[in-house]
Amino acid sequence: GYDINDLAKNPSFEECVFVLWNDRLPTKRELEDFRAELIPEMNLPRPLVQWFKRVPRGVHPMVMLRSAVSDLALYDKETEDNSVEANRRKAARLVAKVPSIIAGFHRIYNGQELVPPDPKKSIAVNFLRMFTGEEPDKKSREAIELMFVLHADHGFNASTFAARVTASTLADIYAAVTAAIGALKGPLHGGANQRVMEMLEGIGSPDDVEDYINGLLARRERIMGFGHRVYKVEDPRARHLRKYSEDVCGGDVACSRYFAISRQIEKQVKKTKGIYPNVDFYSATVQHALGIPVEYYTTLFAASRTAGWTAHVMEQLADNRLMRPLSLIHISEPTRQL
Ligand code: COA
Repeated sequence: GYDINDLAKNPSFEECVFVLWNDRLPTKRELEDFRAELIPEMNLPRPLVQWFKRVPRGVHPMVMLRSAVSDLALYDKETEDNSVEANRRKAARLVAKVPSIIAGFHRIYNGQELVPPDPKKSIAVNFLRMFTGEEPDKKSREAIELMFVLHADHGFNASTFAARVTASTLADIYAAVTAAIGALKGPLHGGANQRVMEMLEGIGSPDDVEDYINGLLARRERIMGFGHRVYKVEDPRARHLRKYSEDVCGGDVACSRYFAISRQIEKQVKKTKGIYPNVDFYSATVQHALGIPVEYYTTLFAASRTAGWTAHVMEQLADNRLMRPLSLIHISEPTRQL
């Protein structure tokens, strides 16, 4: 019931999580208490940090994240407690720990020390400083907060559906979020943002856009970051990310070129296919400007969407019925005759 344009005005991820879990905005005091509950949960179980060191080189961060979130269940005494209260506590742990897993893994993988969370900073800002090891400036703080707010939830998308189906069997909340991460990885869903950046890198200059896009369309290939099952108009999240992308890319030559290529792609795809950018299109350049390596792009989507997944799991369990659709069975003629 809250307008994304209002939530995006002065973005606060914690406020957005509170809305998703409670169906209303928090009071100032409630928001402070919520932050105080969440930030300490950003610390990770020690065995999980040790495990980061044993992850084979070259593993995709989404594969690592899927395994790590499943691993969290090992260290939570409440994993098997499916009560409303325990699930609310586990949801808080998940929302706080998923960003720490991504940042912590990245640092350990690169032989760097972990950066502890700062209790005075938000989850999104903490994520960025724990990932990069630097204190982000005002522009970057706003951009990461907006990224987390805009990706937090989005109806019955594929990963949310996977989470709800899993929850409907009364499996634990970690199982549901693990299933959701598995679904998000695919390039037709959250994996698209990585493919967008790879496309921008592959094009090189705005002058090459027309030929590149025409080539993709001639081969009947998908243009990543475009189209949507639900929106047949512009995705409202893309509008905000376009503005931020232009803002955070300004001043950096390579990033400004990526932004210029993106604008040209948008023009060309609208003209030839009549389809619009979705959330993943401009998220690519925003993440590039924030110093996130391309293979991590989908993990940021997961960090934010954990808020929505956990909200949906709790909603499912509040009035649960096993999700068990029937399939239409097609029997071919020769089989029928047998
Ligand atoms: N690039 C090229 N053509 C696209 C397209 C894209 N990204 N998205 C849709 N189309 C075309 C289809 O080819 C089809 O054209 P046709 O009727 O001439 O065959 C038409 O638009 C309808 O597509 P359809 O497959 O019915 O849409 P969908 O609802 O099944 O697919 C997506 C939705 C998101 C899977 C699809 O738009 C896509 O693959 N996008 C790229 C991946 C992406 O960005 N995913 C993130 C989504 S938030």
